[in-house]
Amino acid sequence: MVGSVNARVPDEGATAPRSPRVRAHALAVLAGIEAGAWSDRLLAARERRLEAPADRARLHALVYATLRWQGAIDARLDPLVRAGLGTLDPRVRAALRVAAAEFLVLGHPAPVAVDAAVHAVRLAGAERAAGLVNAVLRRLAAEGGALDPAATMPAWLTARWSARFGEAAARALVEAANRPARPFAVARAVPGRTGGAAPREDLAREFAAEGVETEPATRHPEGLVVTRGAPQSTAAFAEGRCVLLDEAAALVALLATSSDARPIADLAAAPGGKAALLAQRAQGALVALEPVASRARRLAETLALRAPAGRAIVLRADAEAPPLAAAAFGCVLLDAPCSGTGTLRRRPDKRQRLVPGDIADCAARQARMLDAAAPLVAAGGALVYAVCSLEPEEGEDQLRAFLVRHPEFAPDDPADHLGAAAAGLVSGDPPALATRPDRDGLDGFFAARLSRAAA
Ligand SMILES: C[S@@+](CC[C@H](N)C(=O)[O-])C[C@H]1O[C@@H](n2cnc3c(N)ncnc32)[C@H](O)[C@@H]1O
Repeated sequence: MVGSVNARVPDEGATAPRSPRVRAHALAVLAGIEAGAWSDRLLAARERRLEAPADRARLHALVYATLRWQGAIDARLDPLVRAGLGTLDPRVRAALRVAAAEFLVLGHPAPVAVDAAVHAVRLAGAERAAGLVNAVLRRLAAEGGALDPAATMPAWLTARWSARFGEAAARALVEAANRPARPFAVARAVPGRTGGAAPREDLAREFAAEGVETEPATRHPEGLVVTRGAPQSTAAFAEGRCVLLDEAAALVALLATSSDARPIADLAAAPGGKAALLAQRAQGALVALEPVASRARRLAETLALRAPAGRAIVLRADAEAPPLAAAAFGCVLLDAPCSGTGTLRRRPDKRQRLVPGDIADCAARQARMLDAAAPLVAAGGALVYAVCSLEPEEGEDQLRAFLVRHPEFAPDDPADHLGAAAAGLVSGDPPALATRPDRDGLDGFFAARLSRAAA
């Protein structure tokens, strides 16, 4: 169903990572992911162990290119390993995958990648596998040809997208999930600032001084699209003067921003990008929830650095039973845990873990969370529901079912809150922000704003 195209992504990691340290970290990250860790946490920890920003960028590009194309790479490697790719030591498997990604995805010279892979398995103590790695990669390089994009996504998910959006759109969604996403930044809001340069222009200048080039976002009124460089390595990011997230995620935060002076609750707040934007722009206090201790700590760190002092409180709590007072909040944001099918370009390992039953499980949990969120909203306040999923069970079906169960809420038009520039991203009945990576170049989000009747 999904045809074969050249998988080269020349803008992702233009030069071969010759550094053995970068490769050793990449192999450790990939083996850790196979053992059950999440790519973002493991990769961030390994990136911190590299001093040079260029090495961090190389590690990031190498790991992400490998994870995005892993299904297609494995389909080519497996027939070349007599006992099967699955029988190998995880570090050897990772070395093969990384080298294949280098010359089949990133366009690096094959001989350099093969030699580096052989060196890496020796360094990793798998000396006996060096001959196999050399032979398999040389055969793969000699075969040439392109990777099959269809093999990068679970077949059931592509079939689902095809049935819903059509075959061409399903193909485009798979291709979009295999392209790197451009970083996006929103400058820290400066309360009460009038006249002079806008924070966005200040941030653009500060980024430029560190070699990060940007252009103003066309849909988010305060955002910067990064066209070159690594904003996560800048002083502005390290010192809390910006938030990095997808433009669609920033639009969700904008949907929950209002001039209501009553407190705001962010019921699924970690790691905290949207919570930080809300806390910077809110009139009232922000209460941010996350049940898992390590994620609650990360959320607290994010808000300590990026929210105005004293504005945000982190509670380690479950959004299905939030320990919060009824009718106390001017706005409740539920950016619910979901299947994440809209963000597979940023979470490439997720596609290998998704199973069809996840969507129904997520939808059932989201319904319970929505029912728990509804009583928290004060009269005249708003509930913003969001998921980074393309699946209707988590999006429009969920919204319609909630409105039947909760007639005290009525849908707002998101275009009224997001501004004219983002109005083209609003669709459906009831109207919702609905973005797609293939069509809009944004992560796939579904978000709705519902107002509770005034008393
Ligand atoms: C889509 S993410 C939220 C992203 C976040 N709003 C941000 O902008 O950074 C969903 C989050 O919900 C959290 N979560 C999972 N189960 C939860 C629960 N029962 N209550 C609250 N949060 C939960 C997950 O840990 C995850 O961090």
